[in-house]
Amino acid sequence: MQKGFTIWFTGLSGAGKTTLSGLLHHQLQAKGVTNVEVLDGDIVRTHLSKGLGFSKEDRDTNIMRIGWVAHLLAKNRVPNLVSAISPYRVAREEVRAMIEKTVGHGAFVEVFVDCPVEVCEKRDVKGLYAKARKGEIKHFTGIDDPYEPPHRPEVHVKTDEVTPEQGVNMIMAHLKAKGLIG
Ligand code: ADX
Repeated sequence: MQKGFTIWFTGLSGAGKTTLSGLLHHQLQAKGVTNVEVLDGDIVRTHLSKGLGFSKEDRDTNIMRIGWVAHLLAKNRVPNLVSAISPYRVAREEVRAMIEKTVGHGAFVEVFVDCPVEVCEKRDVKGLYAKARKGEIKHFTGIDDPYEPPHRPEVHVKTDEVTPEQGVNMIMAHLKAKGLIG
């Protein structure tokens, strides 16, 4: 029977979290894992976390809400893919603890989507780095707001060095090695 787990993509805006999540979703479906749910920061903020801003308190609230939903899904054997900057280590560790306690050890897979801020800024997919540099957006992660990288992520993908396909292969290899997929 399919095991429940949470793949938690953390990293700067524009690092490639959504790209990796989308590709992983496809690969899992191709493997017959069809009951995957996706929780993307940008979309969550239009529903579950509507009205929240980007203070530390609001970001932590956002992460705990997403974590709560992720743990319910994983508990019910629904693999789920979360993409959120989730800049604060303690908040991520709280979600990890909740999921490991209710679902089991290994059910929380932290993927550090690692990309130098200069490269994210050059990509500037949403044009937000330019706005942050002009001071039109305050407290932008990586510019004038902190990002705390994970100390021991299960998977570390350097998106300025490997292709999205290679990154997803690293995640798939981890899931197989841990018996989370067949
Ligand atoms: S988190 O910090 O609470 O995890 P989340 O992933 O939900 O952030 O949302 C980040 C997205 O919000 C970014 O990709 C970007 O599109 C947008 N955004 C708007 N303002 C900011 C900001 N000050 N810092 C980071 N992202 C911002």
